[in-house]
Amino acid sequence: MTGTTPKFCFNCGAALPAGAKFCPGCGTAMEAVTAAPTAPTAIETAPATPAPESRPAGERRQVTILFIDLSGYTRLSNELGAEQVHALLQRFFGHVDAVVSNYGGTIDKHIGDTVMAVFGAPVAHDDDPERAVRAAIAVHASMAELSAEMDRELTVYIGIASGRVVASGTGSDSHQEYTVTGELVNLASRLQEMARGGESFISEEVYRATRKLVSARAIGEVSVKGFDEPITAYQLDGLLALDEGAASATFVGRQPELRKFRGAVDDCLETGRGEIVYILGDVGIGKSTLLNRFSAIAREHGFSIHEAAVFDFGVGKGQDPIGAMARRHLGIAPGSAKNIRRQAVETAMREGMFDQSHAAFVNSLIDVPQPPHLRAMFDALGHDARLHGRQAALVALIEGAAAEQPLLISVDDIHWADEDTLNDLAIVASVSADNPVILVMTARRGGDPLDQVWHNRIADVAMTTINVGPLRAEEAKALAQSYFEKFNQYTLDCIERAAGNPLFLEQLLTNAHSQQSSDVPDSIQSIVLARLDRLESVDKRALLAASVIGQRFSLDILRHVVGEPGYDCSGLVENFLVRKDGPDFIFANALIRDGAYESLLQANMRELHKKAADWFDGEDLLLRARHLDRGGAEQAEEAYLAAARQSAEQYQYDHALTLIERALEISRDANKSELALYRGELLLSAGRGEEAVEAYRHAESLAGEGGAECDALIGQAAGLRLTGGRNEAMDILARAETIARDADFSAALAQIHYHRGNLLFVEGDREGCLGEQEKALEFAHAADAPEWQAHALSGLGDAYYTHGKIATAHEYFNKSIELCRPLGMGALETANRNMILRAWIYRNEWDAAADECRSVCEAAEQTGNRRIEMFARLALDWTYTETADFDAALNSLDTTLELARDLKVKRTEAIALFYLARCRYFLGEREFAADLAGEAVQICHETGMGFCGPGTLGMLALASVSDEERSAALAEAETILEKGCLGHNFYWFHRGAMESYLERRDWDGVGRHAEALA
Ligand SMILES: Nc1ncnc2c1ncn2[C@@H]1O[C@H](COP(=O)(O)OP(=O)(O)OP(=O)(O)O)[C@@H](O)[C@H]1O
Ligand SMILES: [Mg+2]
Repeated sequence: MTGTTPKFCFNCGAALPAGAKFCPGCGTAMEAVTAAPTAPTAIETAPATPAPESRPAGERRQVTILFIDLSGYTRLSNELGAEQVHALLQRFFGHVDAVVSNYGGTIDKHIGDTVMAVFGAPVAHDDDPERAVRAAIAVHASMAELSAEMDRELTVYIGIASGRVVASGTGSDSHQEYTVTGELVNLASRLQEMARGGESFISEEVYRATRKLVSARAIGEVSVKGFDEPITAYQLDGLLALDEGAASATFVGRQPELRKFRGAVDDCLETGRGEIVYILGDVGIGKSTLLNRFSAIAREHGFSIHEAAVFDFGVGKGQDPIGAMARRHLGIAPGSAKNIRRQAVETAMREGMFDQSHAAFVNSLIDVPQPPHLRAMFDALGHDARLHGRQAALVALIEGAAAEQPLLISVDDIHWADEDTLNDLAIVASVSADNPVILVMTARRGGDPLDQVWHNRIADVAMTTINVGPLRAEEAKALAQSYFEKFNQYTLDCIERAAGNPLFLEQLLTNAHSQQSSDVPDSIQSIVLARLDRLESVDKRALLAASVIGQRFSLDILRHVVGEPGYDCSGLVENFLVRKDGPDFIFANALIRDGAYESLLQANMRELHKKAADWFDGEDLLLRARHLDRGGAEQAEEAYLAAARQSAEQYQYDHALTLIERALEISRDANKSELALYRGELLLSAGRGEEAVEAYRHAESLAGEGGAECDALIGQAAGLRLTGGRNEAMDILARAETIARDADFSAALAQIHYHRGNLLFVEGDREGCLGEQEKALEFAHAADAPEWQAHALSGLGDAYYTHGKIATAHEYFNKSIELCRPLGMGALETANRNMILRAWIYRNEWDAAADECRSVCEAAEQTGNRRIEMFARLALDWTYTETADFDAALNSLDTTLELARDLKVKRTEAIALFYLARCRYFLGEREFAADLAGEAVQICHETGMGFCGPGTLGMLALASVSDEERSAALAEAETILEKGCLGHNFYWFHRGAMESYLERRDWDGVGRHAEALA
């Protein structure tokens, strides 16, 4: 059994001495975390970082799976005896398991001579594919040692694949078992089978996640069960040199930061004294990238660059950042053998870089075994003396190097540094006070390890802190442009989602080919999971619950959904996952929310949405519906219907329609007909006639026989009335009437007569209209349906209006308004007002009429009723035209015409053209006027002459320059008037005719038409 000794106590977080079995802080036994698995089945594994108290029973996780197989095992089994084989395997597993644990992975199982290791479960790191690849390289390297031990050449072949799996944890809080299953395991295993001894094959996903780090080449496609498409496999060649990946990359923004750093470099060169530059920022925000730029600037200014990084994994002795830095000072290349390192120490000492008294400590710094003459002295030293000696050696080394050339020491990621490294860093920093040494360090916000004690130790060194924030929008765009020159919606979406985080942006853009814009790329998912895994259990649960609520949430709802009445969110704020935003909280980055949300398993997600929906019950119908929908709850449809009704009451028809359409999408058959009918009703209310007809046809196809069918027919007729489909509307009403009479549907009959009356009204059939509206009122009373009584009363107003009985008409309109108000029927009320104001016009009360028109227009706009707005505007045009305010009229008529054409109301278009013609005529543009009038007449011919045919003909007669056309227009109009048509035509026509005779000084003609009007 092998394992890693933890550096920190998983219970209290205290630093642990090497090999500790118990925490010196709290006494917790450490065996539980040091035990590494060896059993050949799924075995308990231990997290590399402090384990949360409990985990959800299953999670969708992003993991990287590694299959490592001993090459030539069958041959070995034949050659060696069973006991030897067993011993060999034990050694082999020992080596491999140690490497895997060292890189933060866990052993899932040993199968025969194969090791299956997992990175990312049960604890995720934000760089699991990188860890797996590094572990694979280290396993290959460690085979040399094993070969020497076993006295035979041993190699392994490795397959690595990344992707999402459902990882299930079972067992108790203290004993977690984790298993990872699925296609991804097959893929990793397949890749491993394809490789030969000494080779590692990686999947495309792994390659994409690590390509800035590794050199690899595509070797072909693998078809694997469970994957729709073949997967491209890559052969791993090795790691790239540090700056190979970065050098060619696009760099954007950060000019103020670069200026600051140039200032530090100039100061250092001028004064011979350095400073500390501390870069702080969120994960992926660009700290390391900025650090690289700083190095480049320093290099240009003649600095010697000593770069080091703190790793949270895979750190062997002497490879810690300070050791690496010391080696760099001594000119030792990475990976150099012990004898080379020893020689370098001797050379440096000979050259006077440090004196003999430091030799043993330098050896210890760079992990060179002490030569016999130093060993006894070194071993005899106490802890303090050893520490002191080490620090003095470090100072001597740095001072020695700085004496030759100014120095930039950069240490990346000190949030992972242990106590010793932080101590050493304080020593390095203190050297800057009197030497040309600049120390640049980076740390993640929230992981800043430099406490007050540390700061006090280096109080005499200048320190500049650079907080790296999100890229600005134009910088993000420039970065995106290095991927895709042309922007499309996808790129813009990526930019928005990444919210200035360059890592997220790169990940979204590079995953463009394989992902929907709503998906979270695996790499980001890993980052989010890694952060989730480091949280306390309650914070993790809270973050998942918050992800269900949305980007922004209040503490109250979060407490409700997570079921923790006292929860205060501080854990999430401290970890920079959410921040306070006014009275609420908001996710620090939308992708964190998305990543958390995507990690939820269906069952958990449903439950959380259900809780959120309960919270909104009675408070916010829309959010309730949305949560029920996302949680896949049955009540979602009914909730959408309620929310849509509420929106419609506020005249937000478009919004209500979106809700109903969603409800229809998820609806089970039983409710579809009701929803479809309501959709038609909304379209009618919004004045969208054609679509309403379509919607009601669809509703009819879903309805069985009876009420729903009848309603669907009535709806179609109402829609056709709007679009001018008169004959079809009449036919459909007849069909509806048969059904309604058979079944005695009084309310339906009230509607049928009302609509029919309306159709007759626009045709100018005065008697017919009156009769229908009287019946409508009768049925509305019988059905006790005040809504339809209001309609019928309004219809009766129209009918009396056409008879010229304006006072009676007013009475009906007013009665209808009285009923509308308590029922909240704003649209019908406005329609009534729109009719009443016309009487003011006939009484020549122009100013009052114009004011009322404007007020009705406003009300109509508020109620989203564009038809009434159009009619009121038409009346306004009329007042402008009649009061000779032609500029205002022309201006307003443009809008009216646009509305009429938009809503496809031909008759209104004709009247608007008629007014336009009048304006142009009086402005002296006679030909233009005649053309407009001709166009109006043409429309009347198409839609029926009864509505405004004679009026437009009168206008044509007035504007026309052709005698023939004039006479024909006059004659045609007279014939129509004789047959019967809407009342306003008499006035419009006779007035037009009079004006025409006046122009010709034909006094008889004038007299005749004046008499007709009287
Ligand atoms: N200024 C920039 N211009 C262009 N690309 C950038 C810039 N800053 C960062 N990037 C890109 O964003 C990615 C993340 O940057 P970087 O690794 O520097 O972030 P980080 O803050 O060091 O992240 P971590 O917290 O993981 O260490 C890199 O691939 C890098 O190429
Ligand atoms: Mg970094």
